[in-house]
Amino acid sequence: MAGKIPDDTLQAIRERLSIVEVISGHVSLKKAGRNFLGLCPFHSEKTPSFTVNEERGLFHCFGCGAGGTVFTFVMRAERIGFPEAVELLARRAGVQLPERGERDPAGAERQAFFDVNELAQRHFRQALRAAVGGAARGYLEKRGVQAAVIDQYGLGFCPPNGAGLVRSLTGQRQQRAAELGLIGRRSEGGWYERFRGRVTFPIRDGSGRIVGFGGRTLGSDHPKYLNSPESTVFHKGQVLYGLFEARKAIDAAQRVVIVEGYLDALALVGAEIGYVVASLGTALSVAQLRLARRFAPEVVAFFDGDRAGQEAAARAFAVCVDAGVWGLGAFLPDGVDPDDYVRQHGTEATRRLLQQAVPLADFFLQRIDPGPGASLPERARAAERAGQVICRLRDAFQFNLLARQAAQRLGVDESLFRDMRAAASVSSGTPKPEAPAPQRLAAPVRPEEATLLEAMALDREVASLVAHRGVLKAFSNRALAEAGEVLIEAWNRAQSANAVIDTLPPALADRITAALLGEGPVAVGDRVQTARDCIERIENRARLAEGRAVVTRLREAEAQGDDQRYREALAQKNELLRRKEVRNE
Ligand code: UTP
Ligand code: MN
Repeated sequence: MAGKIPDDTLQAIRERLSIVEVISGHVSLKKAGRNFLGLCPFHSEKTPSFTVNEERGLFHCFGCGAGGTVFTFVMRAERIGFPEAVELLARRAGVQLPERGERDPAGAERQAFFDVNELAQRHFRQALRAAVGGAARGYLEKRGVQAAVIDQYGLGFCPPNGAGLVRSLTGQRQQRAAELGLIGRRSEGGWYERFRGRVTFPIRDGSGRIVGFGGRTLGSDHPKYLNSPESTVFHKGQVLYGLFEARKAIDAAQRVVIVEGYLDALALVGAEIGYVVASLGTALSVAQLRLARRFAPEVVAFFDGDRAGQEAAARAFAVCVDAGVWGLGAFLPDGVDPDDYVRQHGTEATRRLLQQAVPLADFFLQRIDPGPGASLPERARAAERAGQVICRLRDAFQFNLLARQAAQRLGVDESLFRDMRAAASVSSGTPKPEAPAPQRLAAPVRPEEATLLEAMALDREVASLVAHRGVLKAFSNRALAEAGEVLIEAWNRAQSANAVIDTLPPALADRITAALLGEGPVAVGDRVQTARDCIERIENRARLAEGRAVVTRLREAEAQGDDQRYREALAQKNELLRRKEVRNE
């Protein structure tokens, strides 16, 4: 993302703005030595541990670990993406940004798709208001969707004979409309509108651009809902319906409620529970939870009260763990959806249900319990399965809590989970892949690899030293090696440590700013020397491992009397010895 806006422009913004001044707009800061101190806006605290360093242009909270540059701060504080943060700060700094299309050709192409969706939206809105929309208006009224909600969420209608969209599309726009699933080709030639006969629900991204539509039939046609297909701009598991429209209410409530359906969300909005989004009928994804979490600290999902609903809640817990979200679950009576419930019982009763939300972890714990009569192997298997989820919890406090409770339930020792976590090693700073592969989880973080990574982030010289020596290949931890590749790539594009920080995944950026503003060998000592020491340790270990492998091959070849393999292994051994001598000179 950062690559799209020229580095010089970003640098100009950084230079012209005072990070202390920008942050002072959100946090009251007091000078304390070389730094400024205040109460962290990202977690609740009574004594200030939020530090801002003007010279370096960085902030860091020693309480919750959040940290980064002025761009990171604005992204988190305003809950916006990097490009939006850059736009906002560029205006403030009086720096001219190149036009979106110029700096980002792929962005211009995407914009062309958004434009076609906007065009469709205008047709659908118009049709709902026109005479041809009578039946749809009647349907929405019957479903209790108020006019204000229809307007706020931009509901529309595609009449049975189409909304006139086909006629207004030519050339490339026709192609794009087809790719967006707005129109389809008739077998006898020509086009038809895919949402015909349906009420339309525009689905927006975080900046309010329409990425797709949902369409509900007025009658009993199948499917009941038609959704936009996956396209350049629409990825179902990555959006939450209504998030853009609800962002103010979510911010005010500091909570976001996740329901399944379009009309469930709109029913709650109509009942003044505006802080609601819909997952669009799929099981909650890691991406959706992360998205929700960016907007509010508390995430509550509504589930059915039946057994299936409780199992869904237990499964959702594992997704929450990977998303780094401590999710809550609220439960409805059996077979009733939020729309039905709020209409039958009203706003207050619904709010009470939400108030009674419990941590999803509770359902997870219930489900792992193999019961009092379980055999030893059954218990062991349950502990293994539970551990696989628990050990991925990044928050130490949550981990402790859950490890203790799970251990009690399963009648095993808590240290079992601790060991699993240590092996999975969760140096909380390393960027986590969405679905971590098991072998990756199992790889421990060696201190010399983590330290080297930090030094790389802070110092271009170290990054190029690592690239030159090809040390990443010798890393025992693949995830860290990949983060190293990201850093080398970031330095190739950027000129300053802050520019590098802006291109990193947030977790890694937090860790690096902590090192920059904090203590430790990387913060205070000679970075290049520290890096050289780390490299030596990493290479030595890799060489020893390689040496052991060669010796094993030599022995095997000898035992089998395999001359050819023996000679090969011997040559490898000599090569290793030669390399060692070269290095020791
Ligand atoms: P439900 O079938 O639970 O329906 O689908 P609902 O939301 O209660 O709809 P109404 O009240 O009958 O109008 C829940 C969600 O699953 C997705 C939609 O996002 C829907 O809102 N869904 C459902 C589809 O995408 N396609 C379908 O055919 C059905
Ligand atoms: Mn419903």
